[in-house]
Amino acid sequence: MRKTYRIAVIPGDGIGPEVIREAVKVLNATAELDGGFAFAFTEYPWGCGYYRETGEMMPENALELLRGSDAILLGAVGAPGVPDHISLRGLLLRLRQGFDQYVNLRPVRLLRGAACPLRDVSPEEVDMTFVRENSEGEYSGQGAWLYPGTPREVVIQDGVFSRRGCERVMRYAYELARREKKTLTSVSKANALNYSMVFWDQVFAELGREYPDVETRSLLVDAAAMFMVKEPSRFQIVVTSNLFGDILTDLGAAIAGGMGLAAGANLNPERAFPSMFEPIHGSAPELAGRGVANPLAAIWSAAQMLDFLGHEAWGERIVRAIETLLAKGTALTPDQGGTARTAECGDALAALLRSRQGENPIKSSE
Ligand code: NAI
Ligand code: MG
Repeated sequence: MRKTYRIAVIPGDGIGPEVIREAVKVLNATAELDGGFAFAFTEYPWGCGYYRETGEMMPENALELLRGSDAILLGAVGAPGVPDHISLRGLLLRLRQGFDQYVNLRPVRLLRGAACPLRDVSPEEVDMTFVRENSEGEYSGQGAWLYPGTPREVVIQDGVFSRRGCERVMRYAYELARREKKTLTSVSKANALNYSMVFWDQVFAELGREYPDVETRSLLVDAAAMFMVKEPSRFQIVVTSNLFGDILTDLGAAIAGGMGLAAGANLNPERAFPSMFEPIHGSAPELAGRGVANPLAAIWSAAQMLDFLGHEAWGERIVRAIETLLAKGTALTPDQGGTARTAECGDALAALLRSRQGENPIKSSE
């Protein structure tokens, strides 16, 4: 029996639809080449356009509509004229939190041929996986705004760090480090954040006793930012809080080929809810509609989706194909120094998968 995966697609705003079209193209090519699985895509027209019409980024029952999907593919949200906290909280964070996607998995891997702004760094030296806490922390959305617009105005933004929330994301990271025989670095800031980050460090150390085989390190976030630039080979698996992970993975994108190559997965590891796959870049309004956005980050996120669905051989083959494209230097978009259009880049990637399958077939077990 050919397995059909139900994939919800939210192209979103700006360059979102342009890059997602290429990710869907590559996923369809993969299914066609494999023959053991297929995709049924359902598109949802949510985002800032929808907000302008309805006053909401997505409908009230959005989570119900998506709940039966095997995975969600998301482009990006955000448009000039709609406040970013509305687009982010009204769609992205509602999905991440509503579907308890508590792991944000972001590879920071410098592929051969990708532009790296660091001097004398080889691809092997930039190969890390960020495990970012994705359900609470600094992004819990709790706080207060008192006496707005008066001289007494006070705002309070709360960080929420629960034992369960810290333990589960750290356990995921420890298991990953154990499986891949890699070091695990925890990034925090206990010297300044004397409740949340002291607690974070304590839970990390406690859990470590269950993983004596995993070599661990702890770094303050400012030092981590410095070492990612000065000595990126220090890092293999990294676990950190929601805000720190957000910031450090943009730095990671910068040292590993730029925003056009940075992929991310929002995972509910227990599979009680669908997981969501999205490039980490935003809607890049200044590039939208010009056909120049790099689709490789969205395609790499689709590769992470294949990993999560149990087709790791395909996930790895897509990443290899991205690397080949970069090394050849043809069919690249302007951010990678090329002149190709978004669709040409996606076409070239699909063609590469077809030629490899001809030489060295992957067949998923049915
Ligand atoms: P951005 O990621 O859209 O753009 C940052 C820089 O990277 C720009 O110079 C852009 O041209 C470049 N860039 C991004 N993606 C690219 C691609 N695929 N190919 C080539 N170049 C690419 O971040 P920015 O400008 O801060 O935000 C723009 C909008 O996106 C805002 O409304 C923001 O709120 C939203 N946003 C949404 C996110 C999401 O939906 N997950 C994440 C980040 C921002
Ligand atoms: Mg970000």
